[in-house]
Parts: sequence; structure tokens; C-alpha cells
Amino acid sequence: MSWFKREIVDGVTLVRILNTKLPRFENFWPIPNGTSYNFYVVEGSEGAALIDGADYRFSREFFEALESVMKIEDLTYVITQHTEPDHSGTLAEVMRRAEKAILLGTKQALSIGEALADFPMDRVREVREGEEVSLGDKTLRFIMSPMVHWPDTMLTYLVEDSILFTCDLFGSHGASDRVFYDESPDSFELLDYYASILMPYHAMAAKAVAKTKELSPKVVAPSHGALHRELEGLLSMYERWTSWKPLKKALVVVGSQYENTARAADEAADGLREVGLEVAVVDSAEADPDDLLAHTLEAAAILVATSTHNGHPFLGITFYLDLLKEYRPKNKVAAVLGSFGWGGGGTRDVKKVLESLSIPIVGELTFKGKPKEGDLARAKELGRRLGEEALKLL
Ligand code: FEO
Repeated sequence: MSWFKREIVDGVTLVRILNTKLPRFENFWPIPNGTSYNFYVVEGSEGAALIDGADYRFSREFFEALESVMKIEDLTYVITQHTEPDHSGTLAEVMRRAEKAILLGTKQALSIGEALADFPMDRVREVREGEEVSLGDKTLRFIMSPMVHWPDTMLTYLVEDSILFTCDLFGSHGASDRVFYDESPDSFELLDYYASILMPYHAMAAKAVAKTKELSPKVVAPSHGALHRELEGLLSMYERWTSWKPLKKALVVVGSQYENTARAADEAADGLREVGLEVAVVDSAEADPDDLLAHTLEAAAILVATSTHNGHPFLGITFYLDLLKEYRPKNKVAAVLGSFGWGGGGTRDVKKVLESLSIPIVGELTFKGKPKEGDLARAKELGRRLGEEALKLL
């Protein structure tokens, strides 16, 4: 079965479509454990609402599932919380079949959805902060959450049952049939999801997290992955991520053609461990980009180790620098090291990017060719110094 449904409280049905067939999310981020699209049907005494759709490539599963929950033509409202195609791709067809339904969304959602998702603009209605619609014995309240992840986004609160539908916010990867995160935390990838999708919007995500905290819902129901009913841990994790508060961790990201730079990087990693940091050594040629971002988010110290390639960093490191430029991490200290064959240049580009991001550089070590004993000792000392500076951030 590539989808399942579960009534989470009386009249509220979760449908989860399991995506195990596409190897990448947004056609870029590797999802070896799959991902999922959740949508919800809320049935009250005087109407029914659909909250979010799904990726159009899962239209067969989406309509099979929705029809199993209710007659589509009986929908009163179709709610679009965010018009990225993974949630809006099936909504135009829903609206064709639900001839009496009104499509509700933010002003931005309706504008983007017209262009991106063929919304029928003669049957749409803008909703604003705090506005409510009634389904009889169930009331849906809309809470604006712009830039989490697009300017169009909002949350939807089901007042009587205290369920907050959050679309991308609090989402996770993993194609699991477990409904709630506490049933099987290892089945869901919250950190990779946050790091790759929401991290650039950390300030706006923090506002949405604060609104969630104030509301204190019984259940948080995102449109990807696990639902949450134990909010304390979830909110404190999100508060840490959105404020860029690092852990006692270091990332050593390595680009090395012939293991000379890698040998020195290993020594630096030992130096970081000696002062008490948990160290992830990641080969930039093999790393998944969302893993790189997740390590970067949680690390207090980043050591970039790069050989020189055509006068520039190792190509995997160049890619990592591009990620840094786009995701703009905060609250880190860094160091740079690398081997070169003749003219050098690899570490120079790394330093430029770190400086442009205002990440303090604790030190730099370059050496020609294979690292000598003295180079290895200096690499370990660089690691120790970096670690000591990182500890000051905690
Ligand atoms: Fe899951 Fe930004 O869409």
C-alpha cells in the first residue's frame, strides 16, 4: 500500500501518501528512506474541509485515498496552506470535482496558485490572520506564517480538537506508516528536513514556533511525515535550530584527492575530540547535501579541509561553500587547512566565503604535498584551538 489513512480524532482523518519511488525530494535532496505527503479531511456537522493536496505525480494515490474518506463533491472548503507543488499539485482536480467548494488560502497563495497550480480563481477566497470558518461543530482558524517556507504559507488550527496543521513546519522525511513521532522516532528525519528546507527561513520559522507554543495544541499535524503529540521536545529542538544555538559538536568537511589533506584533517579531528567535542568527519565528495547542512547547523566548530584543484578548492568543497553562501550559518567558529602541489589557492577561496559570512577563522594551515610530522602536529593543534574557541560559544 502506498498510502494509508487514520482517523486521529472523531471527524479528522489523516491520509499519508508514501513516496518511495522518487529518489530525491524537490528533485535534489536524497531521500534514501523516502518521504511522505500528508493531507487531512475535517468533517463537521455542517461541512467538510480538505487541508492540503499532494504532488501531482501521486494523483492516483491521492484520489483513491480521498474518495475512500468522503465523496469529493461534498467538500465545502479546500484549504491550501502552501502552494508548492508537493501540496497543491492535485488541488485543481479536486476543485473540478468539488463544484460547490471554495478554495481558501492567503493572498499570496491564491496568486501563486493561479500560476502554479491552476486554481479556479472564480471560486477562491482569501483568509487572514485569526479568521475562522465553521463546519458546524468544528471551527478552523487561520494563522499566518509567511516564509515558512514560501511567502504564501499559513497554519490552520482546529479549535475544538486542538489540532494545529502546519504544512512544512515540523515536517520530516521517511516513508513510515507510524502516525506519531513518539511511536518510532528513528523512522522520521526531522533534522535533515529542517536543515535543507526551512533553515534559510529560520527567523520566520521561529515566529511560527512561538505562535505554536502560545497556542499549545494537543496535536501538531504537518503535511510531511510524523504527527506530534509530545510538544515539549519538538518545540525546544525547533527553538534551538531556529536560533542557531550550536551543540558541543564539530564538523570536519574534507576534500582530498590523494589523502594528504585528509590525513591532516584526521589529526585536526583528533585535536577537536581532545577538547571534548563530538566530531563528524565528512567526505565532501560523498556527502548528501542535507547531511552536510544538518551537521553544519548543529556544529559549533567547522573545519574545512581542502586540497587545491585548478587553483581553487576541491570541487566537493566548492559545492559546500555554495551551500554555506545560500544557507548562511551563524554561531560558528572555523578553521581551514589544506595541501597544495604548486601554487595553492584552495584555502584562499574558503577563507573568503567564511569571512563574507562573518564566521571567525581561528587559524589556517597549509602545506606542500604530503604532510610531514610537523604538519600533522600543527593540524592537531589547530583542531584543539578551534575546539577551545567553539566551547566559548556554548
Ligand atoms: Fe512541502 Fe514547501 O513544500
